[in-house]
Amino acid sequence: MAKLLYSVGMSLDGFIAGPGGDMSWLADRIGPNPAVDRLVDETGALLVGNRTFRGDDPYKGTEGEGEAFGGGWSGPQFVLTHHVPDVPVPGVTFVGDLAGGVAAAKAAAGEKYVNVLGASVARQCLEAGLLDEILVCVVPVLLGDGVRLFDHPGGTRVGLERVDVTQAPHATNIWTRVVR
Ligand SMILES: NC(=O)c1ccc[n+]([C@@H]2O[C@H](COP(=O)([O-])OP(=O)(O)OC[C@H]3O[C@@H](n4cnc5c(N)ncnc54)[C@H](OP(=O)(O)O)[C@@H]3O)[C@@H](O)[C@H]2O)c1
Repeated sequence: MAKLLYSVGMSLDGFIAGPGGDMSWLADRIGPNPAVDRLVDETGALLVGNRTFRGDDPYKGTEGEGEAFGGGWSGPQFVLTHHVPDVPVPGVTFVGDLAGGVAAAKAAAGEKYVNVLGASVARQCLEAGLLDEILVCVVPVLLGDGVRLFDHPGGTRVGLERVDVTQAPHATNIWTRVVR
């Protein structure tokens, strides 16, 4: 059965996007990364928040613009939104609720991962007890403001178990399992 994994590139001060959803900070820090290669190989479907789907793209201006992992991965994508567009997007299924999106993405992923993209969707998966793993690629940059990796007003405590820590030229990768 597919597992849900939240994967993300994060600044050292905990942001996954800069102010206004800016992703340009990641553009010149994309490079070879064995942890991302492994993730790409083991991903069977994407579960994506609509702000991620419609948002800024670190591959902007390159051949990979608009493609998942800059064109490094292809497969079924499930985008969560309350506003399903009239015009279909090839390869993308728009879904109006979390449970429906998770079920459809898991069925499509088979034995591979459902890769969760977007902090809001990841938080909801976590809080519903559905998130299995988190891969954070920590990038040595400070952003000061923006979209946090995880936000829970008032605070909370989520236990994580380390699976693997690896080094790439532009990131330190921390692969963890959610403790239930
Ligand atoms: N650094 C990285 O590796 C990385 C990776 C991915 C994303 N990002 C960045 O993170 C930011 C996006 O994260 P985010 O947390 O702001 O937003 P998000 O999770 O990508 O998307 C949130 C949106 O998804 C839809 N949605 C969420 N839950 C839903 C539900 N239960 N039912 C129906 N629709 C639902 C809603 O869209 P509607 O308003 O259409 O209803 C909501 O506004 C972007 O700036 C993106 O570029 C960074």
